[in-house]
Amino acid sequence: MTRTALVTGGSRGIGAAISKALKAEGHKVAATYAGNDEAAAAFTAQTGIKTYKWNVADYDESAAGIAQVEADLGPIDIVVANAGITRDAPFHKMTPEQWHQVIDTNLTGVFNTVHPIWPGMRDRKFGRVIVISSINGQKGQFAQVNYAATKAGDLGIIKSLAQEGARAGITANAVCPGYIATEMVMAVPEKVRESIIAQIPAGRLGEPEEIARCVTFLASDESGFINGSTISANGAQFFV
Ligand code: CAA
Repeated sequence: MTRTALVTGGSRGIGAAISKALKAEGHKVAATYAGNDEAAAAFTAQTGIKTYKWNVADYDESAAGIAQVEADLGPIDIVVANAGITRDAPFHKMTPEQWHQVIDTNLTGVFNTVHPIWPGMRDRKFGRVIVISSINGQKGQFAQVNYAATKAGDLGIIKSLAQEGARAGITANAVCPGYIATEMVMAVPEKVRESIIAQIPAGRLGEPEEIARCVTFLASDESGFINGSTISANGAQFFV
């Protein structure tokens, strides 16, 4: 069945692969981005997927943007909270600003994205909420106290939403990617990246499409009994 999907941070990296995969499943897709107009325009030109610009850290902007998407494409049935940033620093060097930037975008951003969509899902008795967490929310990571806190927080969000949404036909699940070949991981110093790859039994970084595959599975109508779960896709780097 054709549904309407929203993917935050959906024009680059893992998000772009998710947007494309949901479109390939026959869904109408809206992708949000925060700042990179050029990348968003190129993404739309390449894929035909419409992009919308707003800051997920801002509730009013998110609510207004979501209202616009719903006016353009119809009620949102599938929401993928994917937008995220890193501000890595060892804890003794981490500034309150670095802490708040990551919390506001990665964690409050999930609230701001799902909260305006949730009442409509409850009314229509159908919804798929998918949050992109991280291996580093499961295991922690040197220099990522802020990021790991948000990604662990995602797991609390989906487990709670799953209980609240289950009777209304709404599922809430998380995907925990390991290290994926995206700009975010490429920004890690090369030596550090090499040492990370050495810890991945698969011997390589993951591909964004391998995360998108988890999302299309969770987003499908047939996945209604999978609720409150976490899919890890990390090349056997870490087991919960
Ligand atoms: N474990 C233990 N020690 C480590 C370490 C690790 N993983 N990484 C670095 N260190 C040590 C270094 O060896 C160094 O020790 P010495 O001072 O004794 O030489 C020290 O920590 C580094 O201290 P610096 O003062 O030099 O650190 P810095 O202020 O320059 O910060 C850094 C460097 C930000 C930590 C940088 O190394 C870095 O970016 N590391 C990668 C962090 C990381 O993995 N981020 C994940 C990004 S990808 C992502 O987040 C996507 C996802 O979901 C998976």
